[in-house]
Amino acid sequence: MLEHLKDQPADKILALMAAFRADPRDDKVDLGVGVYKDATGNTPVMRAVKEAERRLVAEQTTKAYTGLAGDPAFSDAMIDLILGGVVPRERIAAVATPGGTGAIRQALELIKLAAPEATVWLSDPTWPNHPSIIKYLGMPTANYRYFDDATRGVDFAGLMADLGTVASGDVVLLHGCCHNPTGANLTADQWQEVIALLKSKGAVPLVDLAYQGFGDGLDADALATRAVVSGFEECLIAASCSKNFGIYRERTGLLMAVARDADQAKSAQGTLAFLNRQNYSFPPDHGARVVTTILTDPDLRADWEAELEETRNGMLALRAQLASELKRLTNSDRFDFIADHRGMFSRLGTSPEMVEKLRADHGIYMVSDSRMNIAGLNAETVPILAKAIVATGI
Ligand code: LMR
Repeated sequence: MLEHLKDQPADKILALMAAFRADPRDDKVDLGVGVYKDATGNTPVMRAVKEAERRLVAEQTTKAYTGLAGDPAFSDAMIDLILGGVVPRERIAAVATPGGTGAIRQALELIKLAAPEATVWLSDPTWPNHPSIIKYLGMPTANYRYFDDATRGVDFAGLMADLGTVASGDVVLLHGCCHNPTGANLTADQWQEVIALLKSKGAVPLVDLAYQGFGDGLDADALATRAVVSGFEECLIAASCSKNFGIYRERTGLLMAVARDADQAKSAQGTLAFLNRQNYSFPPDHGARVVTTILTDPDLRADWEAELEETRNGMLALRAQLASELKRLTNSDRFDFIADHRGMFSRLGTSPEMVEKLRADHGIYMVSDSRMNIAGLNAETVPILAKAIVATGI
C-alpha cells in the first residue's frame, strides 16, 4: 500500500522554515513563517497566557471530554470578541477547532456538504494553504484579483470586476484584516462596496480572521468582519487565536456559521458538531480554556490587551523604520507602502530570483513571492535588510 504514495508538494512556508534552520550563518534573518518575534528573536509566551495556565494547572479538576463543539464558554467569549454583539447570539452556530487552519478546513467541509457545486473564490494571492486544502477536498475554485504590483496596494478595480462575475451561491473567502501575504487591505468604504456587490450577487462570504489585534487594534481589525455579518443573512467566519494570543502550538480556533434565524443556526450547529466528530472528535481544549480564562477575567484581559498593543505598536514602528531607511537609501518614496501595510506581512513585490539572491548573498529569508514577516525584524536588522534590498537592486 505505502509504495503507492507519491511525494506531496512541500508547503513553501514550512519548507522555508526548514531551510532557515539548516543555514549555519550567524547573521541570517528569518522573515519567513508568520510567527511574532520580540527584539531578541524569541516568540514569548504572553504574560496573561502564563497566568491563565498557572490558574488552570492549579484549579482544573478534570480532563474529561468537553462537548463536540468544545467548551461553550469559549465560543461565547470569542463571538463577543470578534462580533461585539452585532448579531443575536441565537443566529450563530460555533465550534472550537484546531487553530485557524482547522476552522478553515471545517468551513470548507461544511460548504462541501451544503453546496457541493459552489465555487470558492480566493484572492490572488492568498495564504497558500487555502488553495491547497480546497484542491485536496476537490472543490471548485476561482481567483479574484487583489494586489496591484505597481502600487503594492489593493487592485480594487480588478477585485470588483472579478467579484462581479461571482455566481449566486458561490463562496468568497475574504481576509478580515491584515491580508496574508500582501499586507495590503481594503478601506472601510471599499469593504462596503464589496459587501454590496457580493450581496447583489447572492454570494456567501467566508471570512478568515487570523490576525485580529495585529493591524489597527482589536476592535478596528474586527470592523470588516462585523460589517460582513451585519450585511448578510448568512456567512462563515474562521478565527484563529494562534497569533493574537501567541499560542501557535496549542491549536486554538473557532468556526462560526451565522445563519438566517435561530432554527437554521441550530441545524448548522448539529452539522458542525458532526464534522468535528468525523474529523477528530473533540477539539483541543487547553488553548481554548486559556483564551476563555483571559477574556472573562477583567485583569487578565486588560493585561493581554496591553501586551497585544505593545506587539502591534512594535510592528508599526518596524514598518516605519524600514520605510524611512529605504527612503534614505534610495532617495525615493518607492517603499512607503511598507508603512501603509498592516499586520505581520508586507509583499515587497519583487521576483523569486531577487528573493533567492537576498537569501544566498545576505542570509535574508522571505517567502518566494516576496512576502516578508515584519515581526521577524528588530531595530538592528532593519538597516541590514534595507541595505540588502538596495544592494540586490530591488
Ligand atoms: C503563515 O502564513 O506563515 C502562518 O499562517 C503560518 C502557517 O501555518 O503558514
